[in-house]
Order: sequence, then structure tokens, then C-alpha cells
Amino acid sequence: MDKIDHYAVYGNPVKHSKSPQIHAAFAEQTGQQLHYRAHKVELGRFAEVATQFFEHGGKGLNITVPFKLDAFEFADQLSGRARRAGAVNTLAIQEDGTIYGDNTDGVGLVRDIHDNLGWDMQDRRILVLGAGGAVRGILGPLLKQGPSHVLIANRTEEKAQKLAQQFEKLGKIAGGSYAGLASAQFDLIINGTSASMSGDLPPLPSHILSNDGCAYDMMYGAAPTPFMRWAAGETAWAVSDGLGMLVEQAAESFCIWRGVRPDTKPVIELIRQSLS
Ligand code: ATR
Repeated sequence: MDKIDHYAVYGNPVKHSKSPQIHAAFAEQTGQQLHYRAHKVELGRFAEVATQFFEHGGKGLNITVPFKLDAFEFADQLSGRARRAGAVNTLAIQEDGTIYGDNTDGVGLVRDIHDNLGWDMQDRRILVLGAGGAVRGILGPLLKQGPSHVLIANRTEEKAQKLAQQFEKLGKIAGGSYAGLASAQFDLIINGTSASMSGDLPPLPSHILSNDGCAYDMMYGAAPTPFMRWAAGETAWAVSDGLGMLVEQAAESFCIWRGVRPDTKPVIELIRQSLS
């Protein structure tokens, strides 16, 4: 490889990834010389392709669906948050040639809600919808914000309960079904299900969100998601999609690789415009 440092995002599919655009904007803003591309990796070939990338001088990778577990296994060293998440979305080669694995998804979500939306999670009641890989990645950083409690609700209740058990040491957290939500109220509801993509919405009772509450969908798109449309019918203080989370997790990866923290606000604007 040439002198410019090379980075990439590995996924399947990866065609619609915004990461190359985000990292190009970060590089321009911070005056860094680097090359970042999206690469579709065939299923079952992650370790082989990543090994080649680093052997040829590649500096760092972002990892998206469905390879975050492969990346977790691939890393020689893991950050605490990657270990807790059981998944890696950022790999970086270190000076001694070993590979460091981190997970920046959760901190990306927390930064978007706390810094960009200006919404404080301390002592608030949080409901997380879904118990898959996306949710596992955010629970640690979420609990570190000191909420009064977190409830994970999932179509398959046992998955929510199991996931909650794994994070019990970090704070008050429980798992349940959607049926159990009937009379509860929350200050922050985060949609981490993949239901938005299929146009479905988990069944939610009305008045479940407090008046000064926040509804956050980890998904994003050109139009409001079904979850955001539901939240607009409630009297929420803020309703947001996950575009800010996407840019914030990328900024954290950029910081790990380059030691410089980019300004995310103009980049969120830039990517928002490219969606419409
Ligand atoms: P990801 O890595 O994106 O989280 P996943 O691990 O397949 O993907 O998890 C998808 C999540 O969305 C799960 O919590 C799933 O619920 P189940 O565990 O019951 O399968 C949830 N989900 C997907 N489609 C849904 C729907 N139509 N209604 C409610 N929940 C749905």
C-alpha cells in the first residue's frame, strides 16, 4: 500500500454505508491524509480478508452487520466496552502489530442523546425495545449514565431477560415482554429492534412516554421511521432517528485511529442532506 493510511468498513451488504462519506468529511475537517472505502466481505471470509488488509499495511477497520462477532474473535486485545458488548465495530493495528478491538456504538448513542439532543439520562427511566446485537452494544454505556432503571422489552421475552442478566452488575436492569408494558411509563424509549426496517412497530401502549421524554430510533432514513411516527403522536420532548449515533460512533473510531476528535455537528448536517 502507498503512504496514505488506509481504512475501510467491512459488511455485507455495505453498498449503502455512509461511513466513507463520514470519514472523508472528518479527514478534510481535521487536515488528515487518509483513504477510507466500503468493502463487501463474503460470509465466512471475515478473518481471511481482515488479515490480508492489515498485512498489506491497512491501519483500521469499521465492522458492520453481520461481522461484529467475527471482529470480536479476530481482535488480539479488547476494550472493556467491547468485551461487555460481545461485539467489535472498530479494529486498529497497534505499533507491535497486534490488533485492538473496540465498540463505539454505545458511546455514539449516548453522545447523540446527551450532547446533541441535550437530554440527560441520569435518574431517568429508560425502555429499550429489542434484545438483539444492536441493543447488546449500547447497554453498557447507557447504564453508565446512571438511569434510575432500564427495562428491555422484546418479542421473545427470554432473550430480554438473559441480556438483562448479563448487565446486572452495571446498574438496575430487567427484561420483559411488550405485554408487560401496559401501565408503565418511561422518560426515554430507544428502539433497537430491526422492526423499523420491515415497517413494523412493536406494540406500545399510549402514554408510555413521559411529557418531557425522548423517543430515539437507532435506525435512520430519508423519512421518519414508523417508531418516530408513533412517537410524534405522543407528547414527547424530543423525537430522533439514529443518524447522529452513526456519526458519533464514527467520530469515536476516528479518534481511536487518528488521536483527533472531529466536530460532528457539520457532518451530521452533511449526511442528513445526502439522505433527502
Ligand atoms: P440486530 O443485530 O440488528 O439487533 P437481531 O440480533 O436479529 O438484529 O435482533 C433483532 C431484534 O429486533 C430482536 O430483538 C427481534 O426480536 P426477537 O428477539 O423476538 O426476534 C426484534 N424484531 C425484529 N422484527 C420485529 C418485529 N416485527 N416486531 C418486534 N420485534 C422485532
